[in-house]
Amino acid sequence: MAKVTIDGVEIEVEDGSTILQAARKIGGHVVPPAMCYYGPLKGSGGKCRVCLVKVTQGSTKDPRPMPKLVASCITQVQDGMVVENSTNENVLTARKGIVEMLLINHPLDCPVCDQAGECNLQDLSFEHGVSATRYEEERRTFNKVDLGPYIQLHMTRCILCYRCVYTADQIAGKRVHGVLGRGDTAEIGTYIENVVDQDFSGNVIDVCPVGALTDKTFRFKNRVWFTKPLDAHRNCPTCSGKVSLWTRGNQVLRVTARKDKYNEVEEFICNTCRFDKKEMSDWTIEGPRHIDRGSVISANHYELPVVNVPIVPNLPKSIRTSLQKN
Ligand code: SF4
Ligand code: FES
Repeated sequence: MAKVTIDGVEIEVEDGSTILQAARKIGGHVVPPAMCYYGPLKGSGGKCRVCLVKVTQGSTKDPRPMPKLVASCITQVQDGMVVENSTNENVLTARKGIVEMLLINHPLDCPVCDQAGECNLQDLSFEHGVSATRYEEERRTFNKVDLGPYIQLHMTRCILCYRCVYTADQIAGKRVHGVLGRGDTAEIGTYIENVVDQDFSGNVIDVCPVGALTDKTFRFKNRVWFTKPLDAHRNCPTCSGKVSLWTRGNQVLRVTARKDKYNEVEEFICNTCRFDKKEMSDWTIEGPRHIDRGSVISANHYELPVVNVPIVPNLPKSIRTSLQKN
């Protein structure tokens, strides 16, 4: 075990943990933001640099500070390490610069983007960015690409975090897309217009932190903050069948995996659950999904405290609400 202090809060974590993992154990303002790291995906992290922190003491054995800011998602803790995140001015200034870099080629088309309201980049810009841009050059643009019948790629919005690439490698089984080119010509592409159609390929939509990969069955159907998320499950032979339904009235507008407060999926789901089961009668409703994230997505949900409501298939809302009240 290793003792590490982050923003003045001490915690003991397992050897080999990263600074970001240690910070998440503490929670709150101590946790650096992350745009490319994704807990369930091996090898993710180290691409976007928004998680930079200052290590003011390397370890008990070698208390020298680290000379540069380090990426907390890939830097392992040492016993006696002291780290500054939100309490360090240089970290906050560097983060502002990184947000500006991430936005250099971003189209800022939030008003027409399906990811608006649940976009990590939107939240990051709100929390750490500046309101004006100094960038005068032409932004790079791309045509929209259909990655098969269900997924659309808007490369203009991509921040090259590689999460979708790792998801295709580790979850979907067979990868036919990747990052092509280098530097300012790097882009997500498929080889010879291959279609991304494996059983679990829809998960690339859930892991994308921006609106670069969107669900074609949900595109322009609704703003996410007007929908009502419900936890639901079904007996699925391919995945756990545990999902979140995004509903309006009795309509299921989209199906996603359930996500935690860091916007990471709890269990990956298959394409049948995600794209083909859009009727309430396909699902056993468990109750309202509490969205534990400070984003627009959490707006307009006047939730009652969740009590032990029995799991009854397709329980009508009025009955479920009265059960909760009692
Ligand atoms: S498409 Fe989305 S998930 Fe894939 S690299 Fe770009 S931003 Fe990341
Ligand atoms: S989250 Fe650490 S570098 Fe992207």
